[in-house]
Amino acid sequence: MVRLSRVLDPQLTGQEADRLHRDLKKKIVGQEAAVEQIVNIYQMYLAGMTSPGRPIGNFLFLGPTGTGKTRLVEATAESLTGDPKAVIKVDCAEFQHSHEIAKLIGSPPGYLGHRETHPMLSQEVLNQYHSDSFRMSFVLFDEIEKASDALWNLLLGILDKATLTLGDNRRVDFSKTLIFMTSNLGASEMGSMVRPELGFASGEVQRLRETGQLDEKLNERVTRAGVEAARRKFTPEFMNRLDKIVVFRSLGLPELRRILDIELTLVQRRVLQSAAGIPFILNIDEPAREFLLRNGTDVKYGARHLKRAIERSLVHPISNLMASGQIDGGDLIAVSYDAEHECLAFVKEAAALGEVAMVEMLDEVFGVPPMAAAAMAPPEYARPATARVHRRA
Ligand SMILES: Nc1ncnc2c1ncn2[C@@H]1O[C@H](COP(=O)(O)OP(=O)(O)OP(=O)(O)O)[C@@H](O)[C@H]1O
Ligand SMILES: [Mg+2]
Repeated sequence: MVRLSRVLDPQLTGQEADRLHRDLKKKIVGQEAAVEQIVNIYQMYLAGMTSPGRPIGNFLFLGPTGTGKTRLVEATAESLTGDPKAVIKVDCAEFQHSHEIAKLIGSPPGYLGHRETHPMLSQEVLNQYHSDSFRMSFVLFDEIEKASDALWNLLLGILDKATLTLGDNRRVDFSKTLIFMTSNLGASEMGSMVRPELGFASGEVQRLRETGQLDEKLNERVTRAGVEAARRKFTPEFMNRLDKIVVFRSLGLPELRRILDIELTLVQRRVLQSAAGIPFILNIDEPAREFLLRNGTDVKYGARHLKRAIERSLVHPISNLMASGQIDGGDLIAVSYDAEHECLAFVKEAAALGEVAMVEMLDEVFGVPPMAAAAMAPPEYARPATARVHRRA
């Protein structure tokens, strides 16, 4: 045996987990702790180190509305399977009575309608996004504080033994599943805890600010409050079955600004892929973005309010412009802020843009690199960038 004393670094992640990390960081703003927890569990899964006979991971997501809890689950599924819809969502508030539980697990044989029911949590449903190389499922239980006792019992069985028994006694195996549960429990108390003037001595706040530790300390405090609220509300049996409790932070202006950019890129994608088939480019200037941000900032509703402002002030008007034939495929539409009327203004800046020009504009306005831009564009624009450059020469 050759003796070595090489120091190893357990913080390093493999390529696959790294790719997930990078992808989630692009899509999710300001929730690094949550992203890291998912990447950690994925890394354990890849190494075959998750506990046998249990789901791959049991996560409880707490925190205010519109802060990215559901979005993070969808983004994880999208990143790993290519489809954000690969998440099976169970809205716990909808399953209060026993006949509603039957929608989840089916009814016992002999019951009226037994044959017609297709349980929402069957093995086929769970495995529907599996491929030869990827076998992981994603299940989200939303608003678990509203779950009935019957649903709690099902949930406890899934979290502990990774199995669920259907109405007809078939067993569903959840051992290749990531389970996410969300709750807004304690969100209002946690919101007030981000105010540094509460709970710290005034000299202490100054010291933490100077050493750059204030954010970290506030986060710790909010997380602790969240976990305590969960302990008060949920039974120890439930709490003991969780791998991670993640508290999502309220989003501030810098985070909302980054989310605005992400959402505007998604609106541009919708334009390019819309059923109307008139692909055009939006060139949204800074004052227009600031206007959307001003109108969409509401600490209470997080990014939900921002999305509503985008729909109201941008998506509705451009839908009207498309429907009334004022916009054609290949147009470049400048979007600016009309201060007098306090709304967005739309001007056709160019028409009949070729495919190369369009892909270049996507890069310039939205920072989407050419290959990704080509993938966003409709089929006639979606040739590989190299082919396009070649043809142009
Ligand atoms: N941290 C974030 N990063 C990127 N986008 C976000 C973030 N938070 C919210 N969004 C945007 O806002 C939308 C609403 O957020 P989401 O559905 O994730 O809220 P939630 O935390 O699940 O709220 P609720 O508790 O009401 O269910 C998302 O679809 C996404 O577009
Ligand atoms: Mg949600």
